[in-house]
Amino acid sequence: MKIDICYTPELIQQFDVSDKCIVVIDVLRATSCMVAGLGSGVESIRPVATVEECEALGKQGYIMAGERGGKKLAQFNIGNSPFDYMQSEFKGKRIAATTTNGTRAIDLSKGAPEVIIGAFLNLSAIVNYLKSQKRDILLFCAGWKGHYNLEDSLFAGAVCDGLKKEAEFDSDAAISAFYLYESMQKDLFYYISRSNHAARLSKFGIIKDIEYCSSPDAFDIVPKLVDGSLTI
Ligand code: MLT
Repeated sequence: MKIDICYTPELIQQFDVSDKCIVVIDVLRATSCMVAGLGSGVESIRPVATVEECEALGKQGYIMAGERGGKKLAQFNIGNSPFDYMQSEFKGKRIAATTTNGTRAIDLSKGAPEVIIGAFLNLSAIVNYLKSQKRDILLFCAGWKGHYNLEDSLFAGAVCDGLKKEAEFDSDAAISAFYLYESMQKDLFYYISRSNHAARLSKFGIIKDIEYCSSPDAFDIVPKLVDGSLTI
């Protein structure tokens, strides 16, 4: 089994995804929200690329969730905090979500036979699942508006670390992320809170989101994309 990393959506066209298991990663905060919501009883999450698609699903009874630039959209029910997604009133409900980078990366993954959702919140579940399947793996970092980011790369490194006996690192991208994680794993929150996106989010006073998204293994679930929706 081989493992490689796509560091931003701008690079995805360089990869042949037709036979890969893709793990989409947006630690701050889209994939953390998805794990937190589905792990707390949300029935399904439909990631969509645009605000208009989300509003159309809202008319069909979906809870509308999302952000642009990290900020909740005024007309939506909830923003993009894992705590928004964990509200007990959303148990059994369907959420439609659109975000700046995370839902875009999911959209760009649709040519792959398998798409799953990873964040520190379900790190061990992702590693165990990947060990049990046979496809080559592509870790797909959502990044920020086409740029590399620290927190997604760090999570990709954590997955490489978890698979170091089972998987062959197929590129310098995987080797670099592995050593990045090796050097930062002792204090994930410290390093993630130094990232560009943490600085962006701190303007909205949501340091608790950053701390929560940095904590490993709160949920033992592997969300999968099936027919355009994420379920567990
Ligand atoms: C994204 O998809 O770009 C992020 O989840 C942004 C955010 O932190 O709200």
